[in-house]
Amino acid sequence: MAEWSKNVGREPVRVKMLGQKFVLYRDESGTAHCLSDVCLHRGGSLSGGWTNGDCVVCPYHGWRYDGGGRLAYVPSEGDDFKAPRRARIDSYPVEERYGMVWVFLGDLPEEERFPIPPCEEFGDPRWRMMSTEVTWKAEAARVVENGIDIAHTSFVHPMFGRPETAQDNRILEIESGEWWGRSSNLQFPPKFKGNWYRRRMRRDRQPTNTHPCWYLPGMVARIRIDINSKMAIVMFDVNTPVDRQATRTFALHFRSFLKHGFFDKGSLKRLKKIFDEDAVIIEAAAPNHLPDSLAHEMSVGDDKFMRTWRAARRKCIEERGWKIDTDEVEKHRGRKVFNIPSPARRTDNMKWVIDTVPLVPPRKAHTPLKPVAERKSA
Ligand code: FES
Ligand SMILES: [Fe+2]
Repeated sequence: MAEWSKNVGREPVRVKMLGQKFVLYRDESGTAHCLSDVCLHRGGSLSGGWTNGDCVVCPYHGWRYDGGGRLAYVPSEGDDFKAPRRARIDSYPVEERYGMVWVFLGDLPEEERFPIPPCEEFGDPRWRMMSTEVTWKAEAARVVENGIDIAHTSFVHPMFGRPETAQDNRILEIESGEWWGRSSNLQFPPKFKGNWYRRRMRRDRQPTNTHPCWYLPGMVARIRIDINSKMAIVMFDVNTPVDRQATRTFALHFRSFLKHGFFDKGSLKRLKKIFDEDAVIIEAAAPNHLPDSLAHEMSVGDDKFMRTWRAARRKCIEERGWKIDTDEVEKHRGRKVFNIPSPARRTDNMKWVIDTVPLVPPRKAHTPLKPVAERKSA
């Protein structure tokens, strides 16, 4: 996920994802576009420019690019100028959902892309929704893993658990597919503190059903907490890797009770507290990235669900080769730009001006991808 929809207008917006810079803007019809931020002329940053009609304009010498990344106009050349075929920058498929701008960063044809994760609570009047965001000084895989880790709640979040009941927590069910996984758990958190209402919501040792989910697309961690039979909370967190050290989490938070906006403030405060508690742990964890080999960490029964996420992720890396070789990119920092290849690179077979990012070569044989529609869906 690149940005909240409400933050993208006619004015170009700069976003960083996977260590690369992009520009987002809306054309005259309101359609959002995501292009590589680097101008082909002298490397100007398009996000520092402006829009003209359906084009984004480079602030350096005014070159204009359309939503498909094609050079449309060069002011110094006048109206007769015909752009050569090579005059094209990467433009990525964009889809807006849940008030978010989703971008597909890759060159797969549409039928081979993993779908945007479902969020059935969005727009449903039975839920009160709030949104917020947080930036972590941590790598995204660590953030996702924290989001689906039930066991840590007994230690890190006094609101949801306590160390004495860590042994009683139970995994009831785990199910996973190629790009998604879900689990069901039983926990015994403490009484809620606070006013009479909150104390009544949860009595001591009243079991809570928690349902964490992970999705590879968007690095989504979702968790539904059934506080009791009538009250539930859903957290839908999209964890965008900004670069190797930072993650921007776009969070949607739903509650099925106290739906008046009056209660948002307290609810947001508690959500912020949870993020703060997690940040202390994740930002200090080592190594910063998930270790390359499972042999360099130990797992126990409680980690079973996280292992489904790690396995699916590793499959993408080891069989599909879907990993940027960030060490290699780092070697060229400041001297060379790379672009993540967009789908047009497969169809527009030419020598593009900007080279594609180096990838970590797959280690295992690649099983061809079937169209997403034919695969087991979440
Ligand atoms: S660098 Fe973009 S127009 Fe010259
Ligand atoms: Fe947490």
